[in-house]
Amino acid sequence: MDNLDQLINEARAAFAAASDGAALEQAKARFLGKSGLVTEQLKALGRLAPGEKRERGAAVNRAKAAIEAALDARRERLREAALDAQLAAERLDVTLPGRGPAPGGLHPVSRTLERIERLFHSIGFAVADGPEIETDWHNFTALNVPPNHPARSMQDTFFLEGRDDILLRTHTSPVQIRAMLAHAERYRAHDVMPDLRIIAPGRVYRVDSDATHSPMFHQVEGLWVGERVSFADLKGVVADFLRRFFETEALQIRFRPSFFPFTEPSAEIDAAFMSGALEGRWLEVAGCGMVHPNVLRAGGMDAERYTGFAFGFGPDRLTMLRYGVGDLRLFFEGDLRFLGQFR
Ligand code: PHE
Repeated sequence: MDNLDQLINEARAAFAAASDGAALEQAKARFLGKSGLVTEQLKALGRLAPGEKRERGAAVNRAKAAIEAALDARRERLREAALDAQLAAERLDVTLPGRGPAPGGLHPVSRTLERIERLFHSIGFAVADGPEIETDWHNFTALNVPPNHPARSMQDTFFLEGRDDILLRTHTSPVQIRAMLAHAERYRAHDVMPDLRIIAPGRVYRVDSDATHSPMFHQVEGLWVGERVSFADLKGVVADFLRRFFETEALQIRFRPSFFPFTEPSAEIDAAFMSGALEGRWLEVAGCGMVHPNVLRAGGMDAERYTGFAFGFGPDRLTMLRYGVGDLRLFFEGDLRFLGQFR
């Protein structure tokens, strides 16, 4: 092998051994630098006779070109390798979903209220509402609780400063009065009145706070007034609602005699699951009864002709039971770690 071929092989081996740019530049200097091996060969040409010079010069130049080509190839390889290494190190999965704004969700109690509205809507109940700042008359007097009646102490009331005629409603029952008055007014000029069937979900307020009571909580009032509306209708509607709400037939329901000034007779509704963690425990879920004639009259209804039933559910309680939540206050503290679980 001639010494130029050997030189080319040596250069190729040296370039191949260079594992990064700096090492390659050093190897390049060894062959192509000012006093490199190839440069020496070129300088040596000057010492040759003119005849030899031409042929040898061409051979040295070919060798130089081959070495330069090997250098370029190695440079390219190293550049690609560096790029590959960088890509591997900075790998990112472009198919991952982006980080958009976190989706919001409905409050668990709102979900319950929507569910209750849907269920009652399906049996012909409309949704009614009234103000949270209510008159004393709608909240108490019209509901057969006259001023100074001891029954007022059943509900610890927030009054507004400097006023004794308006208050934060202590229950949704005043919506019974508002709905009856509007209904009676609408059909005043007619001999017949279609049944009034409403539910009234909303916030109510009482001076009360512990694990099962919050000063602000929710109620869903129900009212059905018409000719021959009976306690049997009340039982049917409530039992059907509870079984559909909890999505189980395995629910026992009982009506326990009780007292409310605005209903007579009155009852408390208890429910007990027949399986699960709460199996066999009776839990109070609502108050109810037949609308008292004084209340029908305050609502502008003919108490001789019409009867009705009313109930008041605690949807916060229903939400606790449905989702297995142990402390009512969790619903109203605004802690997203808790609320985020209901999305
Ligand atoms: N308003 C009653 C309460 O808040 C519940 C109730 C509503 C009872 C309707 C009877 C009829 O305790």
